[in-house]
Amino acid sequence: MKDVTFTKRIKIVESIYDDHETLNPKLEKIIREQGDRQNYRTALKAHMTEMNMLKEDNSEPFHELSDYIYKESLSISPAFYKPTFIDCWGGLYKVGHHAEIHDHWPALYSFVYYVNVSEECSPLVLTDCGFHYIKPKNGLLTVFPGWIKHFVPKQESSHERIIVSGNISPKSIYEST
Ligand SMILES: [Fe+2]
Repeated sequence: MKDVTFTKRIKIVESIYDDHETLNPKLEKIIREQGDRQNYRTALKAHMTEMNMLKEDNSEPFHELSDYIYKESLSISPAFYKPTFIDCWGGLYKVGHHAEIHDHWPALYSFVYYVNVSEECSPLVLTDCGFHYIKPKNGLLTVFPGWIKHFVPKQESSHERIIVSGNISPKSIYEST
């Protein structure tokens, strides 16, 4: 094993979902109804829903979002692929909540979507060689390679920070559908 340093520009998605004003209240309602299901046992030290909301009852809003996430991920993918959403959860940050630095290896892509935030809420910070801040804005989606380390600084705003996050990998090339 050997460490090698490369300098390379990385493509990420930062785009606004056109219909977010209709979609986001539906996502928020479900996230609030679920409450905290993870008891702070993941890197996310905030309220967190079940790990894969795409498999829960009334998951249509999450499926609508996942279609958009997949489409956007193709814009940074060097090749066409069919997705498997490994997981897709909701997060609700109150004052003092944060996410520890972590990555989502071996997921191909990870994503964060802002559901209900204010400009004073904590950003998502991508960090590898340096820092890149994804500032909170309702309807903003970011998709980035799953190996990139990231964290959320301690939330200081009293405006709750509500997000959807998760991971995508390619379907096996041996699967026909
Ligand atoms: Fe993460």
